[in-house]
Amino acid sequence: EAAEKAGFEHFMMKEIHEQPKAVQDTLNSVIKDGRIDFEAVGITEDEIKGFEQIYIVACGSAWHVGMAAQYVLEDMADISVRVELASEFRYRKMSLNPKALMIVVSQSGETADTLAALRLAKEKGITTMAIVNVVGSSIAREADKVFYTLAGPEISVATTKAYSAQLAAMYCLAVQFAKVRGKITEEQYGYYIAELLTIPEKIQKILEDKERLQWFAAKYANASDVFFVGRGIDYAVCLEGSLKLKEISYIHSEAYAAGELKHGTISLIEQGTLVIGVLTQNELYEKTISNMLECKSRGAYLMGMTTYGNYEIEDQVNFAVYVPKVDEHFMASLAVIPLQLLGYYVSVAKGLDVDKPRNLAKSVTVE
Ligand code: AGP
Repeated sequence: EAAEKAGFEHFMMKEIHEQPKAVQDTLNSVIKDGRIDFEAVGITEDEIKGFEQIYIVACGSAWHVGMAAQYVLEDMADISVRVELASEFRYRKMSLNPKALMIVVSQSGETADTLAALRLAKEKGITTMAIVNVVGSSIAREADKVFYTLAGPEISVATTKAYSAQLAAMYCLAVQFAKVRGKITEEQYGYYIAELLTIPEKIQKILEDKERLQWFAAKYANASDVFFVGRGIDYAVCLEGSLKLKEISYIHSEAYAAGELKHGTISLIEQGTLVIGVLTQNELYEKTISNMLECKSRGAYLMGMTTYGNYEIEDQVNFAVYVPKVDEHFMASLAVIPLQLLGYYVSVAKGLDVDKPRNLAKSVTVE
């Protein structure tokens, strides 16, 4: 097992470091000579033009990928997107558009609820696509189209590299849908693809700065509650950051759309409560920071994550974390990395079983 961990103490840390490659390989599988080619996925331009609606259905972190992707697809490709938890979708009478594309997202390809949702959509004659990591898995076999993420085997229960590869696959879909449906120019198409290709090296850069998170994690290892806040894509990142923390550190954490704090959650803020804000979207920066400051005035300790250059954040938060810039649609890929590291280091600081947290299985094959 030590050899399989390639010098890392845990599979999770090894897999965190494999993310630049997982993203690179996934992007390279469909980007050829600066253009996206979905021949291997099996989806044609005519099909892309014909869809009236997208449903994204998944569980856990894969659902968080859908939550981030909906903002990108709707903004870039101007198509209506609904993101559903697979466990809810299968027991709910929804009026489904038969001209929709249903995208199911799964690392294992064996999650019972996601598989059931896929089967339900197929019964209703809806075109299905799987974004899946395990070749030959049930979901890969049954979906009409398959977009494989090339993350390689993921051992740690807490997903990291599969999540990142799923995001990369979603971005490729968004850019291609936007181009084929005439929503972006040739120039924008080239720009987005070039931006996508910078993600692996930027993830690498964040990983090189990981000690800063290790220090912070040791300080907050005894926290009893942590709140993650953000808006838009940043909110989707918060959902994933919060799940990472709670599943491996057993600290109660919640992700909130920052504007919702005032509607109830802010009453939980006490002296010293840790509030982590994700602020990568320029237009939403002021709104989120002002929600965070409302928490600070009630005693919260603030960690703020933003892009290099936004150094004024140092005057507002107690601890600042910076990530490189990429086109804002793709920022989830970078913002999630420090939050994965935070969850990891807190778990290690508490002496917990990072790779095999209590009560959890890698793949949920029963309801
Ligand atoms: C994430 O860290 C979790 N272990 C979990 O939420 C996971 O993403 C979920 O069970 C979905 O699994 P899948 O991708 O294999 O379908």
